[in-house]
Amino acid sequence: MPRFPRVYSIVATKGGVGKTTTVVNVAGMIADIGQRALIVDGDPQKSATDYFEITELAPHGLIQVFKSASTDGCISKTAIPNLDIILNDDIKGDSGEIPTFLRKSMTHCMRLRFALEALKDQYDYIIMDSQGDQNVVQESIILASDSLIIPINPEVLATRVVMQETAELVKNKFHPKLGFPAFTGRSAPSVKILINKYISQTNSSKELTALLRQYFNSEFDDLVQVLDTIIPNKEFYRNQAVAMRTPVHRLNREAYFTMLSLVTEDLEPKLSGLEPQWEGKRIEKSATAAR
Ligand SMILES: Nc1ncnc2c1ncn2[C@@H]1O[C@H](COP(=O)(O)OP(=O)(O)OP(=O)(O)O)[C@@H](O)[C@H]1O
Ligand SMILES: [Mg+2]
Repeated sequence: MPRFPRVYSIVATKGGVGKTTTVVNVAGMIADIGQRALIVDGDPQKSATDYFEITELAPHGLIQVFKSASTDGCISKTAIPNLDIILNDDIKGDSGEIPTFLRKSMTHCMRLRFALEALKDQYDYIIMDSQGDQNVVQESIILASDSLIIPINPEVLATRVVMQETAELVKNKFHPKLGFPAFTGRSAPSVKILINKYISQTNSSKELTALLRQYFNSEFDDLVQVLDTIIPNKEFYRNQAVAMRTPVHRLNREAYFTMLSLVTEDLEPKLSGLEPQWEGKRIEKSATAAR
């Protein structure tokens, strides 16, 4: 039996690749499918914190989660039914309250994990955003995760560097003796590479995607999987959805099928067949997901 809630974290070594976009849209889709979802904003830039309208503001946010190793008084409600959020209130990054506190705490790495495990009866899924830097907060996030999603943009100059950095991240954190299993007593989270901002008109997106698939599938056996669903580079992910503070699948038919495929076919096949529902839903069912 899987442990509930299932915890996904979106991490990357590079900025601007689509971590927050993935967090808000995956969490929004999961919530509309009828699952109880919680976003944890682990990035001091607080883009996920600012994305959805907050309808009930909790007295505390992420700082208190780390300090008390509990989420009591830290969960705010969003305007999306089934979707709650722990807001990031520690905006100073590496010199902020959380990293300063964690550096002095012997149990630093396990505090977030401990706090989230106590939510097993309240949520089905927890989706965490993170910042690009490898610091104590990112380590806490990884240690609390069942799966990591790493968005990668198939761009000519960046791809090889990102491949290398991602490989190092996985190898360093998941060393069989010193890494993840030693801390947690369980196996390392699965790593899922998500191709994002794919430009279908260019050959380079296609070639780089093939290269990424070949590299990760051959280097890492089953630990790293390149997801089948590809997220295209489209304005509606960048503009309309952000401006309207809504999950992108509610606004655009193509995005509806892409996000549905990502969530129900790639990430959580057990949710296949469930239809997203929301107030005022209007989606024509004739598009196919980008694959
Ligand atoms: N598939 C996509 N198509 C078009 N634009 C996208 C797509 N995915 C993300 N974007 C845009 O790219 C920019 C960066 O995305 P996002 O903020 O999600 O990245 P990030 O990895 O969270 O960045 P940061 O490192 O700053 O936290 C945003 O303007 C976002 O709207
Ligand atoms: Mg972000």
